[in-house]
Amino acid sequence: MAKKLNIKVKPIGLLDLIAFKKLVPGRTKRFDEGSTTPLVAVPAVNRLAKQLHPKKQIMMIDEITTHNDRAKSFKLIMADGSKPAYFRAGQYVSLNLSIDGSVFTRPYSLSSSPKDALDGFYEITVKSGDGGFFSKWANENWKTGDRVEVSAPDGNFYYQPIRDEKTVVGICGGSGVTPFLSLAKSVAEGTENLRLILLYGSCKECDILFRDRLEEQERLSGGKVKVVHILSDDDKEGFEKGFITADLIKKYAPKEFSLFICGPQVMYNFLTKEIAKLKLSKKLVRRELFGEIKRVEQAEGYPDGAAGAIYKLRVSGAALDKEIEARSDESVLVAIERAGILAPSKCRSGECGYCRSRLVNGDVFVPGDSDGRRAADKKLGYIHPCASYPISDLHIQLPD
Ligand code: FES
Repeated sequence: MAKKLNIKVKPIGLLDLIAFKKLVPGRTKRFDEGSTTPLVAVPAVNRLAKQLHPKKQIMMIDEITTHNDRAKSFKLIMADGSKPAYFRAGQYVSLNLSIDGSVFTRPYSLSSSPKDALDGFYEITVKSGDGGFFSKWANENWKTGDRVEVSAPDGNFYYQPIRDEKTVVGICGGSGVTPFLSLAKSVAEGTENLRLILLYGSCKECDILFRDRLEEQERLSGGKVKVVHILSDDDKEGFEKGFITADLIKKYAPKEFSLFICGPQVMYNFLTKEIAKLKLSKKLVRRELFGEIKRVEQAEGYPDGAAGAIYKLRVSGAALDKEIEARSDESVLVAIERAGILAPSKCRSGECGYCRSRLVNGDVFVPGDSDGRRAADKKLGYIHPCASYPISDLHIQLPD
């Protein structure tokens, strides 16, 4: 005899159960009887999802602003006149480039605000030296009217009111200011409700990007945005001098705050110890990704004797099977792209999982800072090629 289940159902719950039981018969009846309402060709929710998360966006360079001999901003509009996908201040897009048989992708933070996207444009800032060959090539060759392939906005470097404190202390250096410009503008425009204190480190005064625009956001925000400039190589009135230390953060931060950081790798290396002194809860510290690790052989845990080698890399899957060379100081993804093979990628920092591939054979080194793999993937032999460095001959299988 079946065992009686001892479940207590309160009166309201009982009504829910009865209503639920009637759902399927009700739908079947309506289906059998037919309906005069025509089916919606594409449901509204699907249309919205496509708008927010397009596979790619074909955009056109509408305006170029030269900041100095190394940095330019590009205003991008949709080539078909539509509006680009909406995003959260702090997110990035990934751009594709094909040069002389090699394919390249690079992520760039959006310096424009989400409201600008609703007005029809994005802005990115490209600094030669930050993104290797891609940035230099783009700065030297892109002109107005050129078309570029841009991914949907992505990334987790944005304010989350449920998780974050009401004040964000932002720390940036170089072109790492771009996501904060977007955030400052969003605060001034009322899209984001928080207080932003930005500690912006530069070598010299002339290296500061977007100084006027940041000052404008300070003015427009009614006191919700404050920018402090720190110069490492100059001692000038009105500027802090030196590096961004724990003491300097304490000087400007309120008692409770979230800490957002975006800058070059060398800045992260310095800040790691300083931030530890602040004893902040882990959830309140957010680091924007800085792309592929430079000088991987200096990373903690890099195996002795693995540096300076060239390995064989067999790449299969995605309708190809090819053997190429892979240098130990470059990520597996860079080796694949150098060989002209188009592999999926977005963040290039090990986080998004877009490049996830199967390691069939061989060993890779994955720096702890950029290991964004799920535990199951580690166990089942999957790697993120953008954050994996060959330390033996390899065979990897790209996703279809
Ligand atoms: S491109 Fe994001 S994890 Fe590799």
